[in-house]
Amino acid sequence: MTLALLIAATGWDAESWAERMRAHLPARRVLCADANGRFEGPDGELANVGYLLAWKPIQETIDRLASLRAIFSLGAGVDHLMSLQLPDVPVARIVDPDLIGRMSEYVTWQVLHHLRHGAFYAKRQRDHAWREPYQPAAHGVSVGIMGFGTMAADAADVLLKLGFRLRGWSRTAKHHPDVELFHGREGLGPFLQGTDILVSLLPLTPQTKGIIDGKVLRSLRPNGALGGPVFINAGRGSVHVEADVIEALHDGTLQGASLDVFEREPLPTDSPLWDMENVVITPHVAAESNAAALSLQIADQIKGLERGEPLRNLIDPQRGY
Ligand code: NDP
Ligand code: OXD
Repeated sequence: MTLALLIAATGWDAESWAERMRAHLPARRVLCADANGRFEGPDGELANVGYLLAWKPIQETIDRLASLRAIFSLGAGVDHLMSLQLPDVPVARIVDPDLIGRMSEYVTWQVLHHLRHGAFYAKRQRDHAWREPYQPAAHGVSVGIMGFGTMAADAADVLLKLGFRLRGWSRTAKHHPDVELFHGREGLGPFLQGTDILVSLLPLTPQTKGIIDGKVLRSLRPNGALGGPVFINAGRGSVHVEADVIEALHDGTLQGASLDVFEREPLPTDSPLWDMENVVITPHVAAESNAAALSLQIADQIKGLERGEPLRNLIDPQRGY
């Protein structure tokens, strides 16, 4: 029997994913959960659902899927799945040039914003004021990426091309000819000490939760070419301790930040971050999952699996990413 698909994409337009999947896999049933991740139909309709395409699914829906063969995260991150009780099936995530390219755009945009005094000039323009601050060159600035994985490697290549000095930190040892790489707990201090712009692209796991705290922020290079360190988080919000980020911005430990992800999303309207000068807030859009770009990859994965090929981009549930 041909296995059906269920799309459970809480807060997203599940129907646009369903349309794409129907086009790539015609004659296959594609069902959708509602905007809260709940499937309204009877259990019988879910009986032959073999594939769950998920973004923040809910436990109740997963528990109703008796014939599940694989789970596909509709994003690169899988923390939204790791907090649930999953059946013993493989979990694949998105690794795709479209998503990677969007993240590199975001990281480059924010790094350049801080290098080129974006907030300063926006304010001067509002004031009709002609002022030229000292402009450091990219080659005098060191960008350190925490979580030197797929996204980071691509962003690093773009930033290298612009002349920045690059360093990276990961769990295990890595090699890149032009990036100074550090790993593990013992590598964290030396990594931070030489970093002017800290970029987090870490996944959220029990090990990374709250890892970017006041101590980490105070370990960044205090007197680099920018005059003080900057923090950019486009990975996951709970990797930073938001109260410590706010304090570091208040007391001058950080001279700026760009935050796309937060401990609580949407960011509460009374968060002091909204009104801080030299803080850029974006609503978790650094790299959006675009159904038109990413659905074919999942359809190909399903076809390959049914031909007996192994799934690609599998995550390790023990590691949590
Ligand atoms: P990868 O799995 O390719 O990379 C993750 C990196 O983090 C790896 O280098 C890994 O180390 C490192 N890492 C994991 N745990 C630790 C740890 N405990 N200590 C040190 N390093 C650690 O993921 P991607 O690059 O594809 O994506 C990164 C994250 O970006 C996603 O998990 C997601 O949360 C976020 N994201 C955010 C988006 C947004 O719109 N804001 C969009 C897309 C993704 P190692 O290499 O040794 O395994
Ligand atoms: C992702 C995200 O993980 O959009 O892909 O956050």
